[in-house]
Amino acid sequence: MKDKIRGYWDRRAVDYDENVRNILYSPRENREWKRIFSQGLGSVKMNGAELKDAKMTSAEMKILDVGTGPGIVATILSSLGNQVTGIDPSREMLERAGINAKRSKQPLVFVQGDAENLPFMDGSFDAVVCRFVLWNLPHPDKAMIEWKRVLRPGGKVLVIDGTWYDHDDSPLKIKLWQFLSTPLIMLTERRIPRYSSMNSEIKESLWSTVARRPQADVRLLERAGFEKIHVLEDIYRKSLTNLDYLKNGHWGRTFMITGVK
Ligand SMILES: C[S@@+](CC[C@H](N)C(=O)[O-])C[C@H]1O[C@@H](n2cnc3c(N)ncnc32)[C@H](O)[C@@H]1O
Repeated sequence: MKDKIRGYWDRRAVDYDENVRNILYSPRENREWKRIFSQGLGSVKMNGAELKDAKMTSAEMKILDVGTGPGIVATILSSLGNQVTGIDPSREMLERAGINAKRSKQPLVFVQGDAENLPFMDGSFDAVVCRFVLWNLPHPDKAMIEWKRVLRPGGKVLVIDGTWYDHDDSPLKIKLWQFLSTPLIMLTERRIPRYSSMNSEIKESLWSTVARRPQADVRLLERAGFEKIHVLEDIYRKSLTNLDYLKNGHWGRTFMITGVK
């Protein structure tokens, strides 16, 4: 199944990159994502109080971006002064990541590999960040244990993902919304968005198509032994203008979960 998932992302690398790289060039989107990551990595909420962890707020953290894809998150984190390594099994995605990092002049390291079997020593990173990836991992429990292994004691995991298959809205409304978003994207971004859904064999094998999220994700972190788990819901809506929401909101609601080793 992993080979099939990797093949899917190899084929989608160019259009996925086109869909997301605006984050690097739109000052507003760039600022918003920097804010989201700084908020997620910079503090731990406990008993309603905001507790700062000195190491977490230091300018330079060693961060692993799991499932880095075209390296957008890695590039943003690097531009915040962190030392970032991105890992992904898709060679085509890593090629896009190299191009994006070069254009942004960020000193990133990219490694081809699997989120569930990381080629890094125990305790190598201050933080593990993973955006829009957990949903497509065949063994999320195994992945969490690996992420905890490569974190130093007190290190932080930050997961951003969405309710891609768990819409409260009807499938018909979602289809119609996606259909209507196309001319909006064409008009405002001067590109034709391409949508390519996963084949049903892959989809049916995914835990995330039947899970209630983010509750299921929280249980994954708990089972792996992460502490101080904190969930922030609907982060994407908060970071979007109404126009961007009309263009992208049909994908689902986006949440961020953090936990500490
Ligand atoms: C929706 S993209 C997200 C890319 C990037 N994190 C972002 O936020 O733009 C999903 C990524 O998960 C990667 N992926 C799939 N299976 C993986 C695995 N076993 N280990 C690590 N990454 C994986 C894919 O290659 C793809 O780049």
